[in-house]
Amino acid sequence: MKVSMNGIVKSFGANNVLRQVDFSVEGGEICALLGENGAGKSTLMNILGGVLQPDEGTIELDGKRVSFHSPAQSLHAGIAFIHQELNLINDLRVYENMFIGREIRTPAGFINDQEERRQTEDLFRKLDIGIDPLSKVSLLDASYKQIVEISRALMMKASILIMDEPTTSLTDPEIERVFDMLRTLKKQQVGVVFISHKLREVMEICDTYAVLRDGVLVSSGLVRDTSIPLISRDMVGHDVRTESLEQNADLGEEVLRLHNLTLEPYYRNVSLQVRAGEVLGVTGLLGDGRSEVFRTVFGDMGKYQGQILIKGSPVRIKSTRQALKMGVAYMPRNRKENAIIKDMDILDNGTIVTLPRLTRMGLIRRREQLEQFEEQRNHLQIKMGSPRDAIGSLSGGNQQKVVLAKWLMTHPRLLILDNPTQGVDVGAKEEIYDIILQLARSGVAVVVLSNEAQEIIRVCSRALVMYHGDVRAEIAGETMTEANIMRLATGG
Ligand SMILES: Nc1ncnc2c1ncn2[C@@H]1O[C@H](COP(=O)(O)OP(=O)(O)OP(=O)(O)O)[C@@H](O)[C@H]1O
Ligand SMILES: [Mg+2]
Repeated sequence: MKVSMNGIVKSFGANNVLRQVDFSVEGGEICALLGENGAGKSTLMNILGGVLQPDEGTIELDGKRVSFHSPAQSLHAGIAFIHQELNLINDLRVYENMFIGREIRTPAGFINDQEERRQTEDLFRKLDIGIDPLSKVSLLDASYKQIVEISRALMMKASILIMDEPTTSLTDPEIERVFDMLRTLKKQQVGVVFISHKLREVMEICDTYAVLRDGVLVSSGLVRDTSIPLISRDMVGHDVRTESLEQNADLGEEVLRLHNLTLEPYYRNVSLQVRAGEVLGVTGLLGDGRSEVFRTVFGDMGKYQGQILIKGSPVRIKSTRQALKMGVAYMPRNRKENAIIKDMDILDNGTIVTLPRLTRMGLIRRREQLEQFEEQRNHLQIKMGSPRDAIGSLSGGNQQKVVLAKWLMTHPRLLILDNPTQGVDVGAKEEIYDIILQLARSGVAVVVLSNEAQEIIRVCSRALVMYHGDVRAEIAGETMTEANIMRLATGG
């Protein structure tokens, strides 16, 4: 099947998001759709997926004009969409989610649970996915949810598959597995639109690319004829610096020490220390326990064994409120579920943690709230309209920046960043790395939890690699290589 979108125009109020965009993809092709945060990628695909209607322009399937007024219509035409925001029902089991809207029925009209379960098991076995089809989705970690979404789309046997940042919380081996699936689909003549800010992945898996800048298609072609620096340049409109600031060498006093911290079944005997001015990295694969360790430090995991010392004094952290008071900030791993409050506007989302500090006698000091937020907004170059707009009107990467702004405003002495650059474009990533290094230089102790080896190497002076809840090794300097991280993270 060949999809072509011609002359697509879309505005939200005064914001002209897509201006006469032509885009096409056909069976057997994996096409990367690229661009800075807010460039219009998700909007273009939402139009193809029947979520949004274009103001102008046409869509053709194999030369026949179509228009989709709902996601169901688009799906019916053979287009499956994995959204940037996860789209699973938490209260249902995994296999039930696999068949939402396309339930298998018995001759008598009841849902055929057994058959749904069997097909799910079959697919998971084929793809080597270690998820129990019977588990509740709410109990799954973000990365597993992502895998369920991807498998669900595969099960739909669509002719065109749209993947909007499908790998943000996956680690390299999981991404490889997803890529294996994509290669198989490609052989079966499925066409794929692949949106990602991880350009190395794009170079590895995609055949063609198209770059949007401010809603205009600025370049397209074969991936083999381009390179990461060239694509980055097209995306942001100028060369992207690839060297960030020097890592800080002046370390101050110890800010955090963990001594044999244990919380089964997540992790055990974790001992580490972080000093003021240091950026410590912690990495590993799915289920390594790193997020749980630091959520414990933030008072978010309940009872633990072992000791936590802050500035040398033993503390028992029982709540996040207490942790915040002690100067600990933790930016969670999964923006979509844990960091964004959908019903609140941008300003309130960005200042909710600092609100107590901005409140006098029950009144919020609005001007200060706005000033503090605006400072971070400039700092992080958040692309947005009014601070009073809904958070959902921001592109994914810009929502991520709002979350980061929120935690920076708490002026912590220990800042824990879990997956800090998820969904952020190449240029903005560099800005965030600079901010992390500047904070360290100003004496903050920073912990970066990341599944990207490159990111760890780039900003951290030292890193721990975890495997199934155990700290496997500490690496620094010459031992901090991608190969080494990979080997340790897989238990080697
Ligand atoms: N429902 C909406 N209401 C108002 N504005 C919107 C809405 N959806 C998107 N926009 C605006 O459209 C522009 C493009 O957003 P879009 O989500 O398409 O970007 P993107 O290229 O997917 O970025 P990212 O890489 O950050 O996900 C942004 O300026 C965004 O604020
Ligand atoms: Mg997007």
